[in-house]
Amino acid sequence: MKKGDYVRIFDTTLRDGEQTPGVSLTTEEKLEIARQLDKLGVDTIEAGTPISSEGEKRAAKEIAAAGLDAEICGLARTTRKDIDIAIGCDVDAVHTFISTSEVQMKYAVNMTPEEVLASSIDSIEYIKSHGLVCEYSPMDATRTDREFLKQICKAAEEAGTDRINIPDTVGIMIPTSMQQLIEDIKRVVKVPISVHCHNDFGMAVANSLAGVEAGASQIHVAVNGLGERAGNAALEEVAVALDLIYKRKTGIDPKQLYDTSRLVAKLTGMMIQANKAIVGENAFSHESGIHTRGVTVAPSTFEPIKPEFVGRKRKLVAGKLAGTSGIRVELEESGLHPTKEQLAEVVKTVKELGDKGKKITDADMLAIARSIMGKVVKEKRIVDLAGFSVVTGIGVIPTASVRLVLDGKEYVASETGFGPVDAAIRAVQKLTSPLVNVRLKEYRIEATTGGSDAIGEVIIKVEDKEGNVVSSRAVNEDIVMASVEAMIDGINKSLLKSRNRKK
Ligand code: KIV
Ligand code: ZN
Repeated sequence: MKKGDYVRIFDTTLRDGEQTPGVSLTTEEKLEIARQLDKLGVDTIEAGTPISSEGEKRAAKEIAAAGLDAEICGLARTTRKDIDIAIGCDVDAVHTFISTSEVQMKYAVNMTPEEVLASSIDSIEYIKSHGLVCEYSPMDATRTDREFLKQICKAAEEAGTDRINIPDTVGIMIPTSMQQLIEDIKRVVKVPISVHCHNDFGMAVANSLAGVEAGASQIHVAVNGLGERAGNAALEEVAVALDLIYKRKTGIDPKQLYDTSRLVAKLTGMMIQANKAIVGENAFSHESGIHTRGVTVAPSTFEPIKPEFVGRKRKLVAGKLAGTSGIRVELEESGLHPTKEQLAEVVKTVKELGDKGKKITDADMLAIARSIMGKVVKEKRIVDLAGFSVVTGIGVIPTASVRLVLDGKEYVASETGFGPVDAAIRAVQKLTSPLVNVRLKEYRIEATTGGSDAIGEVIIKVEDKEGNVVSSRAVNEDIVMASVEAMIDGINKSLLKSRNRKK
């Protein structure tokens, strides 16, 4: 392998990728993806299998007519009918394939090796006679008798194919066997060799790169690793590994990788696993204190790839393993500048919630911080919550009991209400009314995230008898608790203000 040599990227998202179970794209969607693949810089866009449907034919035609820089290719079996339809779409290249392994020749195409050889040669010559680029695939090459494979590759070269693609159709290779296979083929033909690896054992990317190490100069890939069964080699992983590990050139603009991945995920409905390399949501997220502190000081401590290089941003995640500095950086980036004490309380709350199994999102953390930063500090609190319980259900009148410390003394009260929140707020008001008579002017509850375990953020406004309004907020995984905490904070603020006014 020569350092710096160009590796062609043959993208099959719109063909093998569309063979992903459950994926079906309209012509417009295929065109939108093709334009993005062109912007990304792939060398070939396999637009589809034109023989398979009218829609496939239309999509291939429209992509071929879109004026893209990439070579546009249509897939065809080694039959003139398939090839004619592909040629009729005005594509630049035809990728023709036929099974060559014993099992597939017998059960998939029902042909003898001699017939397979003859139809391969005829198809390649036919494509070349139309002046098109020809890529030839002996399907299931990795399970094909090695001597027959070499014989058919040699014949394909003599028939004039421009490239030979070696498919690991059922993904059974490992990097060393792939390397040996490509070296073997390279010994008998001079035509450029490509690899097409499936991911049945999770080795599609490693096997593709092993193929390149052995002399292959093109890799078939699909965005997000889409494709039949477990998929094909993931474009984004192959491209970044070639660039950063192998120091090989490709036409790919890595900054476009994330946008491409998201577009394909959106249009195919195939969501990306969070821990997927390069494009997964967690690929550039750091949680543990050691990691967040490390990357904040020197990104190379825990980042083998700069997030910006692939169009991403670093994310420091709040969770039970989070460190103070990571949380501080996150908050400061959102314009919140907590004091040391407030920051310590945010960290404590985040860790406590994490220990309870709650996943803390950025929105949760900001809500927690806003609530802590807006709270009346402990030393100034006139009213404090000492205990609380609520009973609710079908056939039960919602009843809340609260235990409050008022100016240093403990009091208990119970109240009923329309629901548990109403009962709890009434109970708080009952105890605090001798000190300050406030009415709840506004009450809003928001879930910071979507699930039933979402953290509830309660935002309220309370008004005293003179018409002075204060607002307060509280977050808690229990919305009744968040309501009580927000109410008590609002009462404290109101009391402090009125006492200050009297001074
Ligand atoms: O996996 C495979 O063998 C294929 C061929 C059409 C190349 O997708
Ligand atoms: Zn395939």
